[in-house]
Amino acid sequence: MAIERTLSIVKPDAVGKNAIGAIFSRFEAAGLVIVATKMKHLSQAEAEGFYAEHRERGFFKDLVAFMTSGPVVVSALEGENAVLAHRDILGATNPKDAAPGTIRADFAVSIDENAAHGSDSTTSAAREIGYFFSELEVFARTR
Ligand code: TYD
Ligand code: MG
Repeated sequence: MAIERTLSIVKPDAVGKNAIGAIFSRFEAAGLVIVATKMKHLSQAEAEGFYAEHRERGFFKDLVAFMTSGPVVVSALEGENAVLAHRDILGATNPKDAAPGTIRADFAVSIDENAAHGSDSTTSAAREIGYFFSELEVFARTR
């Protein structure tokens, strides 16, 4: 199996619920290793650039407003098939459709405030990790 990296964002709603540690625990329980992390309050330009693929969608303005409404925690996670492993524990985009026990089922209440982000492919992951972290800020695993 391939060792991959993926980008996680604990979104403003989950940070506001004091759930950063609870969500990090889910990563570790799934065998994902945090190889970079920081807390950040996104500017409008940073949020727009991050979600550029959704620029034409009707929800874009609200998404950017939400993502800039408070601090977030951005992390790079590493592990076997990390992109899909992370999407699995994240659950469906709409928490109403998310499987029981997933992060979105447990911490989110609506599709527009859905607790956390996960890259959807290795290509997106490379772009998204590079968007927030320099090479020197992503650490090799120590074991
Ligand atoms: P998307 O990339 O489709 O979902 P995911 O985060 O699961 O990869 O959409 C990005 C974010 O945009 C999503 O997490 C929440 C928001 N969004 C809405 O607010 N309404 C919607 O109808 C969709 C599809 C997304
Ligand atoms: Mg997406």
